Parts: sequence; structure tokens; C-alpha cells
Amino acid sequence: MFKVNYNEISQVYDEVRHADRDLIDHFWRELDLNPASKILDIGCGTGSHADLLQKVTQGQVYGVEPAAGMLNQARQKNSRVVFELGDAAHLPFEADFFDFVYMTDVIHHVPDISRMFAEIYRVLKTNGQVGIVTQSHHQIERRPIVQFFPGTAAADKARYPDIDQIIAQAEAQRLRFLKTTSLYENQAIELGSEFLELVKKKGYSMLHLIADKEYDVGLKRLVDKLRDGPIASKAAGETLVWFEKL
Ligand SMILES: C[S@@+](CC[C@H](N)C(=O)[O-])C[C@H]1O[C@@H](n2cnc3c(N)ncnc32)[C@H](O)[C@@H]1O
Repeated sequence: MFKVNYNEISQVYDEVRHADRDLIDHFWRELDLNPASKILDIGCGTGSHADLLQKVTQGQVYGVEPAAGMLNQARQKNSRVVFELGDAAHLPFEADFFDFVYMTDVIHHVPDISRMFAEIYRVLKTNGQVGIVTQSHHQIERRPIVQFFPGTAAADKARYPDIDQIIAQAEAQRLRFLKTTSLYENQAIELGSEFLELVKKKGYSMLHLIADKEYDVGLKRLVDKLRDGPIASKAAGETLVWFEKL
């Protein structure tokens, strides 16, 4: 199966993916975070979210990331955030340490989700909360990219755990499910030149999961359609799944 090489893409990652300011504001509104809060970003990548969250909360933010290339970029971004090499199933932190643990767009890369939730439980303080940002299978099917590259939906559903699986795995590790929050679903968006450029660069990792022939056909269809101008579309949205440690 194709695996994204994050050491390779660390050089261009920040050009194609930006921190989601609305998500950070959402965390800020939902949680009682303050300068004494200890916060962990699992699979922090180049540290864009950890950086923003540290600036917004002034809290003690930590990031853990297995790809050294991504980590190097993160360390250059914000020296107040502690960035550590590690992965979701082996968190290099002591028990009962964090008030809030979150991950954005990472869970589909984690080979052992059950072990990951056991680790999250271990490092969380009692009453600490967890936020997992991902896409449900329903949202994957409704991604605008699927109308041009239909095979990407099945390929991504095979690697993304659906929401009920995430909840079951977390509950099996004693985390209490709180709620799901849907983010950005059906927001009006336009697919234009930036989208086309990203498709051409295969900046969307699911484009690596389909056959070359399907990619070529989809790209041609997209280029043809864009001749009439930007395409009005709707965001598939993301799902934020909340848990707490009792
Ligand atoms: C799509 S990127 C998301 C990065 C960052 N969270 C963001 O929102 O920009 C996925 C990240 O997950 C990391 N990753 C892959 N496998 C992982 C694992 N088993 N545990 C923790 N992180 C992992 C990758 O190295 C990569 O940085």
C-alpha cells in the first residue's frame, strides 16, 4: 500500500497546508485553556497548529511527530513549544500530564489505534479531554475531489477508521465519549486555479492511491471544466470527536 513519505514532503508541506485558525478558536471556546494548561498535539507535522494554539492560549504546548523532517520545520516555528520525536503509540511523556490532547488529520496514519488510545489515556490527567479531527466515511464520499477522481473515496475509506470505530476503540481504552462536532460541512467553496495546482502536484495524498489512468482522466475532466471559470462546490467538512478521561 502507498505510504506518504513525510520526510520528503516536509519541505513543501507548509506551502500546501495551512493551520486552521477556526479550529484553534473552536478549541479555545470549548475548553478552559490558560497559561497553566498542558496541551499535546499528536502527529503535529510542521507544528502549525501547535504554534497557533500556544500563541492563543499561552499554554504549555507539546508536539510529538515521527517524521524528523516535519519536526525540524516545527522546531523552527516556535521555540516555546516542546517538539519531541515519537509516535501515537509511544508517547514520550509521563503519566497524568496533559489537560488536553488533540490530533488533526493523523488518525488514518496510525497503525494501532487501540494502543494509541491506551497511551492517550495514560498521559491525560483525570478530567482531561481529547479532540480527534478527522473525516467520516460519509464526508470522504462527499469530498469535491471525488467527482473528478471517484476511486479516491474507496481508497481513503480503506485507510480512515469511521467515527463509530474510533469511538469503540477509545471506549475500549476507558475514555468516555462526549460528542462529535461537525466542522465546515456544506460551506460554499470554489475550486479554481489553486485546487488545480494542488491536483497537478498531487498535493492531496489520496491522488497517490489511484491508478495513473484514473488520475489522467480526472485531471483532463477538471482542466476542461475549469475553462468555464471556478467551480462552485460545497465542503465535505470534518468531524471532531471528543472524549474525556474520568
Ligand atoms: C496530514 S499530516 C498532519 C500534520 C498536522 N497534524 C497538521 O494538521 O498539519 C499527518 C502527520 O501524521 C504523522 N504521523 C504518521 N504516522 C503517525 C503515527 N503513527 N503517530 C503520530 N503521527 C503520525 C505524519 O508524520 C504527519 O506529520
